[in-house]
Amino acid sequence: MPPLTRRELLKAGAATAGTVAAPAFAQGAVAAVAGTPDAARAPVTRRVSLEVNGRTVEREVDTRTTLLDLLREDLQLTGTKKGCDHGQCGACTVIVDGRRVNACLTLAVMQEGAKVTTIEGLGTPDALHPMQAAFVKHDGYQCGYCTPGQICSAVAVLDEIRDGIPSHVTTDLTAAPALSGDEIRERMSGNLCRCGAYANILDAIEDVGGSRSGRAGA
Ligand code: FES
Ligand code: FES
Repeated sequence: MPPLTRRELLKAGAATAGTVAAPAFAQGAVAAVAGTPDAARAPVTRRVSLEVNGRTVEREVDTRTTLLDLLREDLQLTGTKKGCDHGQCGACTVIVDGRRVNACLTLAVMQEGAKVTTIEGLGTPDALHPMQAAFVKHDGYQCGYCTPGQICSAVAVLDEIRDGIPSHVTTDLTAAPALSGDEIRERMSGNLCRCGAYANILDAIEDVGGSRSGRAGA
């Protein structure tokens, strides 16, 4: 038999190691799962207290519960929508302590003591928030699924601009950001609308932003 080359020797060694090690690893994994005490697999719960739309709520939650599921499943605030559940569509946007948050990306237990505003907390059918009224006026929706997130985001966007927080398209970081279409489009880019109502959404936000500026200057 001719002597093995170095390459053939390495191949043969790797194959042998795989054959021997794989079953041993699998057996160890099975043993580890089988040996896991029930208590270790039980859900871990914590009590969380937060303010939602001005109302203090306390719940015992599984620590894996997202803020979105707490709002929708526990508190029945179904205005906040679940689109992707992965932080990609913005349908779940709510306002937490004055800042926009994707509720699917934060755990309920991380919001202990926070003030959360959902679409239900912005206005009522009889007394719409100015942004809600502007979306109606400018026809800023079609199916409406993305709309609660769009409106919560838009309200916070105008606050961000008012507070002088720059965005990716702000050119002069020493001056207050302008209330321009580019600024609004960039800041709203995390809120997707599969119906494509973007132009009307922009009109609605500019309308409210413009009237805000008017009031501030009055
Ligand atoms: S559901 Fe949260 S970002 Fe899409
Ligand atoms: S209005 Fe249908 S997804 Fe935006």
